Amino acid sequence: MRPVELVMVGAGNRGYLAYGAFAERNPDEAKFVAVVEPDDARRARFASAHRIPADRQFRAWEDIAGRPPLAPGLINATLERTHRASTLGLLAAGYEMLLEKPIATTPAECLEIAAAAETGGRLLQIAHVLRYAPFFVALRDIIVSGRLGAIVSVDWRENLIYWHFAHSYVRGNWSTATRGGPMILTKCCHDLDLLVWIFGRCERLSSSGSLTHFVREAVGAQIPDRCTDGCPIADDCPYFAPRVYLDRLRENPSSFAVAAVTSDRTPEGVMRALETGPYGRCVYRSDNDVVDHQVVLMRFAGGLSISLTMQGSSHVEGRTVRIDGTRATLLANESRAEFEIHDHRTGTVERITKPPGVGGHGGGDEGLMRAFVGALRGDRAGVLTSAREAVTSHLMAFAAEQARVSGEAVDMDRYRESVS
Ligand SMILES: NC(=O)c1ccc[n+]([C@@H]2O[C@H](COP(=O)([O-])OP(=O)(O)OC[C@H]3O[C@@H](n4cnc5c(N)ncnc54)[C@H](O)[C@@H]3O)[C@@H](O)[C@H]2O)c1
Repeated sequence: MRPVELVMVGAGNRGYLAYGAFAERNPDEAKFVAVVEPDDARRARFASAHRIPADRQFRAWEDIAGRPPLAPGLINATLERTHRASTLGLLAAGYEMLLEKPIATTPAECLEIAAAAETGGRLLQIAHVLRYAPFFVALRDIIVSGRLGAIVSVDWRENLIYWHFAHSYVRGNWSTATRGGPMILTKCCHDLDLLVWIFGRCERLSSSGSLTHFVREAVGAQIPDRCTDGCPIADDCPYFAPRVYLDRLRENPSSFAVAAVTSDRTPEGVMRALETGPYGRCVYRSDNDVVDHQVVLMRFAGGLSISLTMQGSSHVEGRTVRIDGTRATLLANESRAEFEIHDHRTGTVERITKPPGVGGHGGGDEGLMRAFVGALRGDRAGVLTSAREAVTSHLMAFAAEQARVSGEAVDMDRYRESVS
């Protein structure tokens, strides 16, 4: 079969490592025929990996918006602050699109984008990768099968490993509400999306959370602004940047964290980037303002109670979930790829392992791309995450942030009305 032709807009970490890698692994499925990326080194890296000629390389999405589509499908993997303008412009130019999450950074923008896709009759798939990951598909299947009985309570934890939190939410792209957006949107819109997918409609929510650890006052005044400036607590600090990034480089030279720091994947290249770039900053001297932990308490239709905890101080990356039903309790551990089902009637425990699929997000990136490619070939049934579907969970994230800041619970029906 001929591969589906695609345009890549934003050839950064996601563009290159997730979507570019899919096309390299699956040359019969997808082929990138054009790239749009302002950073010269990143544009050249992507163009070289996908053999894209010079006349199909562009610096900004505006350069391709005013001309006929260069391919039927386009992936928009720019940062969230660019999503509104680029998505509206490129949908209008005639592209079917896979758009990175979050859709955008305000409720109004999310609704505007979803409406534009519908009015124009365009496919707009949102990159909620976890709906396509074997682990979360299996988790949903267990619940839908009814073997837990009626679900009474859900305890859902998004545990971020300590260095990932510091990388993305203290030093990196999502460390301030102005650059990225509220944490509950930029990190947990996947979790809220899964909760809607599995459990249905949220009726009411409240939230609390704060930034407590990554603040100036957490360490003495003598601590320098950069780890590379002779920090006296370097040996003791888990966040000492040279150790964090040289360890990542050793573990996996293609690590997303190293790729964000520098394209020079040598120890010397990493150290040079840390001396001047944002990822060498002391975690207590950065400009971060997003929370480092947050809890959202929700009531779903039918009176189901759900708590979502996000925290960035975990020893290991991965969600842990406990679901109690009238017939059984389910314990799910994403990092171990394991489920335990404890049956109330028989007292037996069933252990199920669901190994991750190929590629990032436990196979979610691969499934997402297969669904997008399938839709471009005419079968839209595999697309589980349309923009309209994703708006539901995005609005919950904005409402949770409002609840956290105001300290008041939010009625979701009233909230939806107020932003529509
Ligand atoms: N689906 C997921 O699980 C997941 C995981 C991580 C990140 N993300 C999301 O993916 C998006 C990209 O994140 P990333 O980590 O790849 O960021 P990144 O900074 O590595 O990549 C973004 C790229 O967009 C480019 N860009 C900026 N302006 C542009 C323009 N006008 N036209 C074209 N390109 C432009 C930048 O130069 C950069 O290379 C973000 O919205 C992020 O929240 C999603």
